[in-house]
Amino acid sequence: MTKHNARTVTKSFQFLAVLVAAMQLVATVQVHGVETAEPGVAAESAAAARDARTAWWREARFGMFIHFGLYAIPGRGEWVQWNEQIPVEEYAKLADQFTLTNFNANAWTDVAKAAGMKYMVLTTRHHDGFALFDDPGNNFTTVSTAAQRDVVAEYVAAARKAGLRVGLYYSPLDWRFPGFVLPDLQRKSAEAMREQYHRQMKELLSNYGKLDVLWFDGGETDWLNFGSDWKSGGDREKRPKGQHYHGGFSWQHDQVCAMLRQLQPDVIINGRADMAEDFHSREGDGALGNFDNKQPWELCTTLAGAWGYQPNKQPKSLKNCIQLLAKVAGRDGNLLLNVGPAPDGRIDPAQAARLREIGEWLGKYGKSIYGTRGGPFLPGDYGASTFHDKTIYVHVLDWPGDKLTLSPIPAKVIHASVLTGGEVNFTHTESGIELSVPSANRSEMDTVIALELDQPARAIPLVEMSPTKK
Ligand code: GLC
Repeated sequence: MTKHNARTVTKSFQFLAVLVAAMQLVATVQVHGVETAEPGVAAESAAAARDARTAWWREARFGMFIHFGLYAIPGRGEWVQWNEQIPVEEYAKLADQFTLTNFNANAWTDVAKAAGMKYMVLTTRHHDGFALFDDPGNNFTTVSTAAQRDVVAEYVAAARKAGLRVGLYYSPLDWRFPGFVLPDLQRKSAEAMREQYHRQMKELLSNYGKLDVLWFDGGETDWLNFGSDWKSGGDREKRPKGQHYHGGFSWQHDQVCAMLRQLQPDVIINGRADMAEDFHSREGDGALGNFDNKQPWELCTTLAGAWGYQPNKQPKSLKNCIQLLAKVAGRDGNLLLNVGPAPDGRIDPAQAARLREIGEWLGKYGKSIYGTRGGPFLPGDYGASTFHDKTIYVHVLDWPGDKLTLSPIPAKVIHASVLTGGEVNFTHTESGIELSVPSANRSEMDTVIALELDQPARAIPLVEMSPTKK
């Protein structure tokens, strides 16, 4: 074969290969075409899978968030390193003091159980980069420093023993890598940070048995550069809403997502790493927001005004906590209430005491929260409502006067009682269902009235409640 011929044959082969590839591409497009011909069906089955995964979580309604890490030592919150621009090497020295001598993860689960919480979420690694688990690829962990303990392993074991569901918080972003702030100028650093993220995810997903919740924070692509763009002249400008990071770095979240679904098919995730979220995170009391019974959601907030440990923080009042729980459940959401333990792992005694009080309340009236769904009376200034089977629980947080009139519903109340004690009178009128409870029987926190219906409450459409206040 002459050189010329050989080239022609090679070329023909190349042509053939391109043709075959093109045909495969057409076939793939057609296959996808079939799939996308019915996008509604695909979306429905994704929603059904999500509903199946989140079923236990919806019933649980109440969980404990724990922010624990080196930042507990200075005691000025988990953002202390960034806020005070503490050099990485200096901050890292805190690990020498993080001995955890008296730490016992069972003490956490005891409090969570006593509080009536059903699941927990622990910061396995916050933005400072200090991991509470073993990571052979990195020494900045509790295992490789003074404590020499795998806190995540101890926590997971304690939670399982206590019958609590296990959640792990994880921050892909790590302040030790300048690539987070300058993902394009410091591309190598950003890539090293990504490499750590993928590796640590694999470790967390592989080494601790079955996980129930993976709670991402700081992994949104749009949060690179802290949600800002660098302008010429060195200025940083907050990216306007709806505008996206347009640099060349990618977290490659899709790879993590595939691994996650393969290694932990049932784990549920929030949306802070750009993966299809099983539940949505609302953050802080101010983000309580509206009723939503379509997209599962969770309000995370603090018990005492701080995420990471800050000394002498007083917990919210019991009334505040119970009302928040009722408002969240009545909006069809979950409450993830945060504590930030001290450097030795101890939950502040006043906060632990408050949590126990919440648990006592739930011990008596928990059926109006656990396993319920929000509605059918939408939340309003009176309070909120939840239901289970044929019972509606009206959480009256603020009485408008002698009586409360519930909007009409296409069902009959056959019996009414005050869960929190006392008598209730109810009458069906043209304007709805009138409830009255003598003031002596009203609870200052939450008067829970159980209405037994002649039919399941699930079928009743949601109804607005007229404002009770002018
Ligand atoms: C806030 C805090 C962060 C904390 C998170 C929990 O975003 O800045 O440190 O982990 O809330 O949702």
